[in-house]
Amino acid sequence: MQETQGKKEKKTVPTSVKGMRDLIGDTYYAYQGFAEKASEIAMYYGFIPIETPILEHEEVFTSAIGTETDIVEKEMYTLRTKGGDRLALRPEGTAATMRAYIEHGMHTWHQPVMLYRYGTFFRHENPQRGRLREHRQFNIEILGTPKSIADAMVIRILAITLEESGFHNLSVDINSIGDKECRPAYIKNLTAYYRKHINDICDNCRQRMKTNPLRVLDCKNAQCQDIKAGAPDSMSSLCNGCRKHFREVLEYLEALSVPYRINNHLVRGLDYYTKTVFEIISVPKEVPSEEKKGGDGKEKTTSAPPLTISAGGRYDLLAKQMGSKREVSAVGGAIGVDRVIMSPEWKPLDPRIIKKPKAYFIQLGNEAKLKSLSVIETLRKAKFPIAHSISKDGLGAQLAVAEKLGIPYTIIFGQKEAIDETVIVRNMNTRSQDTVKMKDLASYVKKL
Ligand code: HAM
Repeated sequence: MQETQGKKEKKTVPTSVKGMRDLIGDTYYAYQGFAEKASEIAMYYGFIPIETPILEHEEVFTSAIGTETDIVEKEMYTLRTKGGDRLALRPEGTAATMRAYIEHGMHTWHQPVMLYRYGTFFRHENPQRGRLREHRQFNIEILGTPKSIADAMVIRILAITLEESGFHNLSVDINSIGDKECRPAYIKNLTAYYRKHINDICDNCRQRMKTNPLRVLDCKNAQCQDIKAGAPDSMSSLCNGCRKHFREVLEYLEALSVPYRINNHLVRGLDYYTKTVFEIISVPKEVPSEEKKGGDGKEKTTSAPPLTISAGGRYDLLAKQMGSKREVSAVGGAIGVDRVIMSPEWKPLDPRIIKKPKAYFIQLGNEAKLKSLSVIETLRKAKFPIAHSISKDGLGAQLAVAEKLGIPYTIIFGQKEAIDETVIVRNMNTRSQDTVKMKDLASYVKKL
């Protein structure tokens, strides 16, 4: 909080919470434009929208994501209501989507149920590049099918959405972490391997060995990298079913020309995944550096480091994990929208509500000011976008804004016009103008 010193009392001016930010004007439109494009693509592929509450019972996430994960252990915002309920601000969307699927008996709907959602999520992380405490995601989920084409479709749609938003250097990292048949054997192998190196790994890995062994592969600590590189990979432990499923997903990706890289160490930070896990990484192109030339005389280039912009996977066991009697095969993924907007690759897309003004409305005198809002309403109903500065009075000040914005027409409404019930429409390029009766204004502007 900022502090301001009054004469007598010391006041603190509230600011937004660390890691959370206000979205105003163009920044808001940037998010809205992306969400509209992503929704349009998802809808085309047959997804329908879902929104779930921002607050959920805490167990929705503890049962789904796993208690031994960073998200649940360290990052979840929780609260206790006066009635004693323990609630959590949603840290992600998949658990709540599955909660809704079960609660609304969606298994009786035509399967699979394909849902998309856009919204804010909350994680108490250390704010840094691409990491906020309130962030926005666009999610797509396909619930009620074990088919490998659903995995490929999710990856493909997320990649298309990113491509249409300006990303052209994407890399899909993909892995299979098996299912309840084959994963126990893999974890056994992995723990046996890490146990041999117990004295060389970091404390965090030692802890993860006990609580959530797969996550040792997520360790970024330099001291553990060589050990991680030699760790057994999940692929060699896959059962026939998982192996076939993974091979099919890769075949679909190849047929769809989605370039991918098998990353044997990709495990993800949420416990609900089975079989396919993936991340879509943006590798920004090199751009000329501010510093023109290096010591060797060559043009210097710089690029932002790669960033995971989207991620997801299959979660066939989640429904049962959350207490459902029924198994629900499902797969999905999410795009981190803040990471999209912050990326140098991103190409802004205007949301549909933005209309470029065709005319600048100028009012002069009290009589005109009084009737101005009615004229503007006539123009709005005629779907004719305008700009104005209704709080300004002089002609010069208003014309200056019109010139600056480069708007092709001005609509001038002065004292005389207000009495005569007319307006003057001036073409700013040719400087020609017409006096138009108010009752004819809607049909006149439609022709402009
Ligand atoms: P996640 O990887 O935790 O997965 O988040 C998805 C994406 O959200 C990340 O790839 C990243 O782009 C963005 N993201 C995550 N945390 C932050 C943050 N603190 N600040 C800014 N951006 C962030 C999930 O949440 C899964 N529910 C995805 C999923 C959907 N799996 C299946 N269906």
